[in-house]
Amino acid sequence: MIRTRLTELLGIRYPVVQAAMGYVSGPRLAAATSNAGGLGQIASATMSLAELEDAIAETAGRTAAPFGVNLRADAPDAAQRVKLIIAGRVPVASFAQAPRPELIAALKEAGVITIASAGARRHAEKAAAWGIDAVIATGSEGGGHVGAVPTSLLIPQVAAAVDIPVIAAGGFLDGRGLVATLAWGAAGIAMGTRFLLTSDSPVPDTVKRVYLAAGLDGTVVTTRADGVPHRVLRTTMVDRLDQEGRAGGLVRAARNAAAFRGRSGLSWREAIGQGWALRRSTGRQGTGRRQGGLSWVAANTPVLLHAAMVDGRTDLGLMPSGQVAGLIDDLPSCVELIGAIMREAEACLDRLATFRSE
Ligand SMILES: Cc1cc2nc3c(=O)[nH]c(=O)nc-3n(C[C@H](O)[C@H](O)[C@H](O)COP(=O)(O)O)c2cc1C
Repeated sequence: MIRTRLTELLGIRYPVVQAAMGYVSGPRLAAATSNAGGLGQIASATMSLAELEDAIAETAGRTAAPFGVNLRADAPDAAQRVKLIIAGRVPVASFAQAPRPELIAALKEAGVITIASAGARRHAEKAAAWGIDAVIATGSEGGGHVGAVPTSLLIPQVAAAVDIPVIAAGGFLDGRGLVATLAWGAAGIAMGTRFLLTSDSPVPDTVKRVYLAAGLDGTVVTTRADGVPHRVLRTTMVDRLDQEGRAGGLVRAARNAAAFRGRSGLSWREAIGQGWALRRSTGRQGTGRRQGGLSWVAANTPVLLHAAMVDGRTDLGLMPSGQVAGLIDDLPSCVELIGAIMREAEACLDRLATFRSE
């Protein structure tokens, strides 16, 4: 058995976390991960309040093991989401992007374990000072919104800077990666792309096949989807986005904002507010007219994500992906995946021990 500060903190068997993925990590994938001994997480940013309440109840019905809910602290209804997490007795809450001290305090007071996300050391230090219990540090190899520092440099830096368990993310695949990051000072791994490519993930098979076909050079970081760096599979649609003029981008963003608003139940003010907050949290706000335009753009992501992950429209949708997709060519179940990772990690530790001499 490999025990770490993370397995102790969360009360899980293995130091393996399923990262939150909008429209992908709902009850089915989260519960399958938790039942396999890792920590499954519901991605709530793309859910309405009612959907989140249902998802919590369904996940609790599917697993008796600890699971988590990932939320955005800048969502206009974040406090209500926190209430649902507490009322549903969810053991763990994790924040996408920056947390807020009062939300951390409310969760901790109710006995919920809190996890922050960080793409840079200063984010981790700030959250640790606010009393967060653990941090997921994600390197630039990762899928979705990413920072600029690669995992191999970010993890040792963050692990040295904070005194809470660090969960390493961005580019993880197998037991060798788990052992490598334990050596860097982390207490476990979180994986998105690898869990998307399991038989327990609800993504249509046609979409999974596109991910499986990608090579190591098959992803690109674009800011054209929502104004902040986003690692996605390189497709004709993404190339078109990158070439599109600013005016065309804004028209499409306004159309998408309308579609997402309809789905999420958010008012226009709230939808635009989320766009602003997304940019503020990544330190990328513009000025004057440019600012107004860019806040619309943030609504693109959920709409483009839904098109691919739910509707299966690989031609129209956005497919966030880590570079690790280039090394994945199978669709194991969560039990098979986590079992293989842990067996390989143990074998790896045994092998490393043979390097020592008297
Ligand atoms: C399809 C997909 C959707 C994602 N959606 C979200 C999301 O809704 N919220 C979020 O905070 N991160 C999201 N992410 C990022 C993951 O939580 C995680 O940081 C990333 O997948 C880790 O890198 P890896 O893919 O190399 O394992 C998404 C990633 C993928 C691949």
